[in-house]
Amino acid sequence: MSSPAIKVNDLRKSYGTHEAVSGLSFEVRRGEVFGLLGPNGAGKTTTVEILEGYRSRSSGEVSVLGFDPSSREREMRERIGIVLQSSALYRHLSVHETLDYFASLYPHPRDVAETIEMVGLGGKDSARTRTLSGGQQRRLDLALALIGDPELLFLDEPTTGFDPQARRAAWETIRSLRSLGTTIVLTTHYLDEAQALADRVAIIKDGRIVAEGSPAEIGGGAAHDVQISWRRKDGTVETRSTDNPTELLNQLTGEALAAGEQLDELRVARPSLEDVYLDLTAEEDLASD
Ligand SMILES: Nc1ncnc2c1ncn2[C@@H]1O[C@H](COP(=O)(O)OP(=O)(O)OP(=O)(O)O)[C@@H](O)[C@H]1O
Ligand SMILES: [Mg+2]
Repeated sequence: MSSPAIKVNDLRKSYGTHEAVSGLSFEVRRGEVFGLLGPNGAGKTTTVEILEGYRSRSSGEVSVLGFDPSSREREMRERIGIVLQSSALYRHLSVHETLDYFASLYPHPRDVAETIEMVGLGGKDSARTRTLSGGQQRRLDLALALIGDPELLFLDEPTTGFDPQARRAAWETIRSLRSLGTTIVLTTHYLDEAQALADRVAIIKDGRIVAEGSPAEIGGGAAHDVQISWRRKDGTVETRSTDNPTELLNQLTGEALAAGEQLDELRVARPSLEDVYLDLTAEEDLASD
């Protein structure tokens, strides 16, 4: 099947008079990792929870695995997995009991012990969930999203609170799920995470998409200048911008070689996803106050 996993057309959501989502349109292809980026309050969780069937929309068209999520059909819910931005767990149950319970809600669940290992909670099998550390609870959240062996996974800031090793382990889990064909919608504030995992990202600001494409396209896009810099003999750093770095480098190195000089600390830098993100989401309003 090559129809997209998710189709969103002119999605809008208002809370009272405040429009939090203001006409979003995008598609998520089957088997890709799609990143949703944007500042606090941009409308990411609102959008994701509409797709999951947890919130109603004000207007627009939404299709998730061919379903309208607002109809909350059981079949759709059995085929998706969810890590909510904030979750409420059964605090008196153990890790194993919690997963056992959720596994019983799905037609073809993953093995509970295997899932516990997958998220690195092996030693915490019989621990009450209320005794877990913040990062361990987040790992349990990830396990709960995986337990139903979903074909579409929604991860809203899944690695917030993870230590660096746990984050890398979660990245490996996400990569292996992707290689097995799972479609993944990933919300994150970690731009290195988006860069490492996402096939495509959308950057959202004030409920609108301000950029969309692969991290490489957005980061190193042709519209952006490449910066070439080096240290001169007098110690100052010279920086030139160019859209043709090959030619400029050839010229600069040619001149240096002819003069018998070195281009010390020579650097060629493309704007990173983070540079572009910060640029696109900058708050102009702050300056006018
Ligand atoms: N239940 C609600 N009632 C009223 N306003 C809400 C509600 N949920 C969200 N909002 C508002 O809608 C806007 C978007 O919120 P949302 O949670 O979607 O942002 P987000 O992009 O997920 O932010 P974050 O990065 O902080 O998680 C915010 O201004 C928020 O205050
Ligand atoms: Mg959010």
